[in-house]
Amino acid sequence: MADSKNILSEVKEGILYLTVNRETKLNALNFATLEEFRDIFNEVSDNKDIRAVIITGSGEKAFIAGADISEIAELNELNARKFAENGQEIFSLIENCPKPVIAVINGFALGGGCELAMACHMRIATDSAKFGQPEVNLGIIPGYGGTQRLTYLVGRGKALELMMTGDMIGAEEAKNLGLVNHVLATKAEALEKAEEILRKIMSKAPLAIGMIVDCVNAVFNTEENGYQTEANSFARCVKSGDYKEGTSAFLEKRKPVFKGE
Ligand code: COA
Repeated sequence: MADSKNILSEVKEGILYLTVNRETKLNALNFATLEEFRDIFNEVSDNKDIRAVIITGSGEKAFIAGADISEIAELNELNARKFAENGQEIFSLIENCPKPVIAVINGFALGGGCELAMACHMRIATDSAKFGQPEVNLGIIPGYGGTQRLTYLVGRGKALELMMTGDMIGAEEAKNLGLVNHVLATKAEALEKAEEILRKIMSKAPLAIGMIVDCVNAVFNTEENGYQTEANSFARCVKSGDYKEGTSAFLEKRKPVFKGE
């Protein structure tokens, strides 16, 4: 994994840990950090040493407190569209990653931080996490996919309320709304929970895991017939060695050993 200036990365037992490391700015996402995410996720798909990803923020106060407002303040109409499209493209790379990606959310997940968390496959928060889309306070709207992903995660009425008021909500409420999968007391416990889930996923057939991501994402792509994607992916699974291994292991009453082939 190439060195990044704003994101610390470390691979341990197949899990890539990414920590946004701008603690003094509450890990705000500037352009450089976003581009580092692009480079990292372009590499993750093909890197055999990486089988899962955890994204978190450095320090105890924030996951990511939004896009960097000092950069937002310099936008004009032309580059604002590019700004949004660029962020959307990078977050799509995360959402479509064929390996599981979990956000471990400590503290503030606001604006682009909440949007990045929503692009991950799952979200695990600490008790003190706070979620919100406060862009309206700056005279703008979410631009990194938040209007879309928040709506499909929590439903239209609540998404409109959160985006129109800019209100923050706590971790328990976020869990009740379906925005968060699990809430734990501390960051260490949240990381442990993420690792436990990822270890379970890593014991399954990797090609099948990637195809589940494709099929679930197809639900939200109006240009794609998700049932067709599912049938095609199902057929691709049956061509794999892992399919032979999984079914044989069951019939031979032993544990399967998957190779991702
Ligand atoms: N962009 C750039 N810098 C940010 C930032 C952001 N999104 N969020 C926080 N920071 C910076 C602050 O400017 C401050 O920097 P400084 O010490 O150089 O002045 C530092 O991070 C600490 O933030 P501060 O506001 O002093 O902390 P706080 O505890 O008083 O408040 C928040 C925390 C999260 C409520 C507050 O920082 C905030 O509202 N941030 C912006 C959230 C937002 O609107 N995000 C969406 C952006 S589109």
